[in-house]
Formats: sequence, structure tokens, C-alpha cells
Amino acid sequence: MTTSARPIGIFDSGIGGLTVANAIKNLLPNESFIYFGDTAHLPYGDKSPESIRHYAARIASFLIEKKCKAIVIACNTASAHAFKTVQDVCGPKIPVINVVDPVARYTSENYREGKIGVIGTKGTIQSRIYVNRIEKLNKKLKVLSNATPLLAPMIEEGYFNNSISQTIINSYLSKPSFKGIDALILGCTHYPLIKKEVEVFYKKKIEIIDSAKVVAQAVQQELQEKKIINTTSENGDYQFFISDFTESFEKSTKIFFKEKIELKEARIWD
Ligand code: DGL
Repeated sequence: MTTSARPIGIFDSGIGGLTVANAIKNLLPNESFIYFGDTAHLPYGDKSPESIRHYAARIASFLIEKKCKAIVIACNTASAHAFKTVQDVCGPKIPVINVVDPVARYTSENYREGKIGVIGTKGTIQSRIYVNRIEKLNKKLKVLSNATPLLAPMIEEGYFNNSISQTIINSYLSKPSFKGIDALILGCTHYPLIKKEVEVFYKKKIEIIDSAKVVAQAVQQELQEKKIINTTSENGDYQFFISDFTESFEKSTKIFFKEKIELKEARIWD
């Protein structure tokens, strides 16, 4: 099989990264991918950086064994703590795309100055990855971040677009430190599903930056630059693995991927 015909490997702590997989499928319908959700260790947002690096290295090896031509870390927390680890496992021939850098580039290029808010898991926010990346790229931007740990489990339980989720979102976004922001970054794979509610809070007056599309574009650019983009006219083929299967995960996949999918269990830690 030629390199360009090989699949893209995409991984996340669970099934939230399917929002990124879905954006890749929409932008690059000819590309095949293998998705891995580490449901045995979910959530990553509360884990130590060392544990996340350990999990990410093993998952990257699994995807390489499956002949993936590029790896997408579709998890903000893993992007914050394990990007270099995954690059080391992949070596120079397999490009690695994380979800933070494309958004940091987009933000620094589209906002000349001002205040940018970021919400995400405790792990992502405590790492200060968005603050460091964006303020390094554009010194006129001030990045303010707040951890919003209730949001990912809330969304996974199907609580969004209702009065309870709107109340929790409003409470997080009302923090004084977010006053006067010019844009808000949704720094977690689950948050595209609450984008509308965040827009309601801001009365559509500021841009809500959703990483899924920006990351899909970065994947396209990387595949083009490395000349490994799939140029066939056939539709891609998709496989979905998780490290611990439950029916509730399978049911929730539809929320994130917009269509029913079949999950296979891969016990890569046994
Ligand atoms: N995928 C994680 C992220 O984007 C959210 C869920 C978790 O904490 O594992 O940060």
C-alpha cells in the first residue's frame, strides 16, 4: 500500500475526539482513519502529565502498528502534556498534529490585539499551553483561561442544549476574569457540542473558536506539505477502537460523530 493510501491515526482520552474525526471526514472524505479512544483511562483532564505521556506513547505505538501515516492527537489535555512524547514515538517519517497549535496559530493571526478567553479541563488549563503558545506568537494578545471540569462529563451524559447545561455554562463564563474578552477558545474536544449555548451567553457578539475545523485544515495542510494526501476518488474507510467497551460509550458516539458507528475493543494494556 502506498503511504498516501494508508490511514490517519486519531486518538483521544475517550469519544470526545470524534468531533475532530468528524471534521476530518467532512474536509477530507477520501482519507481513511483509525480512531482510538482510551476509555479505560478517561478522563485525562484529572490525570498527571506522566500518566498521560505513558498512555499516549502506547496508543501511538498501536496506531503505528496499524500502519497509520500521520497521527492526530484529538485531545487537548494529551496535546498539552504528550505532544513531544508522541513525536518521539513516531519519529521523523510520521507527522504528528495536535489540537492546540493550529488554534493558537489561527488566533494569533486573526486577532491583532486584545483579550482571548480559553476554557478546558484542569489539565489543559493548568499546563498554560494556550497562554504560552498564543502570547509567544502574538505579544499583543492577553490570554485568560479558566478550567471548566464539569462540562465534559455533563456533555457525555447528554446534557447540552437544555436549561441545566445553559445554567452551568453561564456560571463558568460569568467569571470576572473573562470580562471584556474578544474571542473564546473551546479548548476541549467535547465543547463543539455546547458552542450554541456559549454563543447564547455572549449574544453572538464575540467569536467562539471551535478547534475541530481548524485542526482538520491543519491536517490537510500537513498531508499536502508531506505529499501524503490521498488523491484517490474513493471514500475513506473508518475503524473505531476503544480500550474499554461499554454500551453507553457506543450510544454516545452518535452525539459526537453525527452517525452511528461500531466500536471495537482493543485491550492494549493487557
Ligand atoms: N479529551 C479531553 C480534552 O480534550 C476531555 C475529556 C477528558 O478529560 O479526558 O481535554
